[in-house]
Amino acid sequence: MKLTVVGGGSTYTPELVDGFARLRDTLPVEELVLVDPAADRLELVGGLARRIFAKQDHDGRIVTTSDLDAAVGGADAVLLQLRVGGQAAREQDETWPLECGCVGQETTGAGGLAKALRTVPVVLDIAERIRRANPDAWIIDFTNPVGIVTRALLQAGHRAVGLCNVAIGLQRKFAALLGVAPADVHLDHVGLNHLTWETGVRLGGPEGEDVLPRLLAEHGDAVAADLRLPRPLLDRLGVVPSYYLRYYYAHDEVVDELRTKPSRAAEVAEMERRLLEMYGDPALDEKPALLAERGGAYYSEAAVDLAAALLGSAGSPYQVVNTYNRGTLPFLPDDAVIEVPAAVGGKGAAPLPVPAVDPLYAGLMANVTAYEDLALDAALRGGRDRVLRALLAHPLVGQYAYAEQLTDRLIAHNREHLAWA
Ligand code: G6P
Ligand code: MN
Repeated sequence: MKLTVVGGGSTYTPELVDGFARLRDTLPVEELVLVDPAADRLELVGGLARRIFAKQDHDGRIVTTSDLDAAVGGADAVLLQLRVGGQAAREQDETWPLECGCVGQETTGAGGLAKALRTVPVVLDIAERIRRANPDAWIIDFTNPVGIVTRALLQAGHRAVGLCNVAIGLQRKFAALLGVAPADVHLDHVGLNHLTWETGVRLGGPEGEDVLPRLLAEHGDAVAADLRLPRPLLDRLGVVPSYYLRYYYAHDEVVDELRTKPSRAAEVAEMERRLLEMYGDPALDEKPALLAERGGAYYSEAAVDLAAALLGSAGSPYQVVNTYNRGTLPFLPDDAVIEVPAAVGGKGAAPLPVPAVDPLYAGLMANVTAYEDLALDAALRGGRDRVLRALLAHPLVGQYAYAEQLTDRLIAHNREHLAWA
């Protein structure tokens, strides 16, 4: 089995490689290709990747290259984990929206729109080259904003599934609180990428007993503290929102906070500097503890599970993924991309049926779906007016005066990445 990672020079890659090494029985990787335009990072990351495989007696071959077409040729699956413009562009996304009183975040709000506009054309070009090299290859998309990018891929007819670690992170957390194995926890996870709610926590599988009421009664304070949301909000919702919902439920509080501290991008850039220094040490042969301070916990497990299920080697039968709605949530268009548990196999992902969704959160899902639709239109066709329309439709922007100002800022800060600007 040959796997290619686009953005292989990312400091996250050792997390992935560690997962491939540990979980080789689930996903037997014979060749792992790390492709990245940044030769210096790739050399450091590739060196550590080889030492991780060697330490764990994994005899898979690790290839590093900057040649995308060669890298994807013959690949059974291609993982996309790239970041157009790097942390510098992210820093912008996290900063200028604050000037208009809006949250500055890499995937949510106006910053997320900027990221979508930079990213969609690049990903579509890469996907086209993957299809030319091997029309049967699966594309696993981690590249944010995952919902919009996955929709762009599916709309262009690619064999793609979008993936995020929020669900697997909550599965692990709930399993620990309940004292059971993670594999025994099935989440009723519903929404859009980075806009999800856990409406049930079932033991043993999709039909198992729902222990969410017990979890909230016994561990509600811990769950609320972790999400940095008030406990009474959780009690009122009766479900567990993902931490990305804090940007909605506590928007102004978050804006105040973000204004007084360095951006996450700046923190991450500093961490990356230290990580790359460590990766260059020939004595290091495992992922360093510092990597756990990044947001990507368990992402290798999720990736291995999904690739294994798509390629027919093993993998859990039900996984939370991003795919077409196709009637699963009747209040959203069929071609919306949703994030829900799905049966995953060689033919792709088929969402499991979802019980009726409370308007308390269905409304926000519908609103953000409409925004994502307009965001994708702006990413594909460009133009100031399309950017403005997406911002006017976003529940965290909405006001005309702000939408105008944010549109100008978005374009000014991203000109070098936008072919039409
Ligand atoms: C979580 C999200 C990812 C996001 C990451 C950011 O893992 O699911 O989509 O990219 O956090 O983490 P970072 O360490 O870059 O802030
Ligand atoms: Mn994510």
